[in-house]
Amino acid sequence: MESQPHNRDISGNTALDEAQRVKRFEERIQAGERIEPKDWMPDVYRRQLTRMISQHAHSEVVGMYPEGNWITRAPTLRRKLGLLAKVQDECGHGLYLYCAAETLGVDRSDLTDELLSGKAKYASIFNYPTLSWADIGVIGWLVDGAAIINQTPLAKCSYGPYARAMVHICKEESFHLKQGYEIVTKLAQGNSAQKEMVQESVNRWWWPVLMMFGPSDSDSSNSEDLMRWKVKLFSNDSLRQRFVNGSVAQAKAVKLTLPDPDLRFNEESGNWDYGTINWDEFWQVVKGHGPCNRERMRMSRKKHNDGRWVREAARAYSARHRKNENEDGKKYYSRKRRKNAALGSFFTGKIRKAAHSRGQPTRT
Ligand code: 3HC
Repeated sequence: MESQPHNRDISGNTALDEAQRVKRFEERIQAGERIEPKDWMPDVYRRQLTRMISQHAHSEVVGMYPEGNWITRAPTLRRKLGLLAKVQDECGHGLYLYCAAETLGVDRSDLTDELLSGKAKYASIFNYPTLSWADIGVIGWLVDGAAIINQTPLAKCSYGPYARAMVHICKEESFHLKQGYEIVTKLAQGNSAQKEMVQESVNRWWWPVLMMFGPSDSDSSNSEDLMRWKVKLFSNDSLRQRFVNGSVAQAKAVKLTLPDPDLRFNEESGNWDYGTINWDEFWQVVKGHGPCNRERMRMSRKKHNDGRWVREAARAYSARHRKNENEDGKKYYSRKRRKNAALGSFFTGKIRKAAHSRGQPTRT
């Protein structure tokens, strides 16, 4: 992935040396200004953003598989529609994020190659299986809940295209959280088998969800850069703590327990203290040895191959479209196309007139 040279500062001045440019860039960040794609930025900022946004995009796309499994098995039509919409949303989030990454001068097909070759990471949480219907509720409640805590601050991050994508994404994530918590509430108020199913699901997902926030601050190699440049506004541990604090009350409200014997309210800090996270498990999953890593990669490759014809058709369409443009970029229509278009509007006009004379409503 080659970063493109952007040698000018925002006033078009090329005479500034590297140190002056960095100083100017950092002043803009400190002043709360947004960095836009054509602005000068340090290579490390560009690389870090490309890494983070593309991993985020991959996570949204791979995140469709565990839930997609349940679309055909949703218990009612309403649940099926909700889940279908949610999975489609995740796909859309992936697309926004790939577009945001492309503004940094990378090609989406290169990013996809990195995912498919196993070089690029995606969120650890999506390497766990969905074993029961309750998992769909718990993912919505806890996984999307964690995503909201982690991603809402990103809507205020320093890079314009990423921040703007996050505004839309977080709104949809709020709907995901609500549909998940509603499923959990119904099951928690259901018969004993349903209560048992949802509690068992919470027990399996709780710890992997805490791992979603990334390694503890002392092991977070990228945080220093990202926080200095206001891409990340809060550290991994502080967001994790915020999530734990909120989840305790939500679990209590539906009479579920969180599987952590060390969970205690700390009067002094005002936080809920929690037990030790199994970081060995986290790194194993990140390195590709989680319960479903292989299955997720197999599926990603299959989907990529199955979609080849769509990419080819899109490329052919785009080439044809370009052929129909004049040198100045204006659309050029062949004589045959102009004639068809004229005939089309002639007939549409006739049909409208006939409908109008019959007193039928016509579309405008
Ligand atoms: N899963 C997989 N890898 C992870 C990880 C996780 N949960 N957390 C950290 N890592 C990786 C990092 O990518 C990094 O590896 P790299 O340097 O080789 O790229 C390494 O572990 C060290 O972690 P750092 O803390 O230094 O990494 P970051 O500073 O980038 O912080 C992050 C990690 C908190 C995930 C941050 O990148 C972030 O906030 N990203 C944006 C949000 C995101 O990607 N979320 C993924 C979930 S998407 C989702 O939830 C979809 C929703 O619909 C449910």
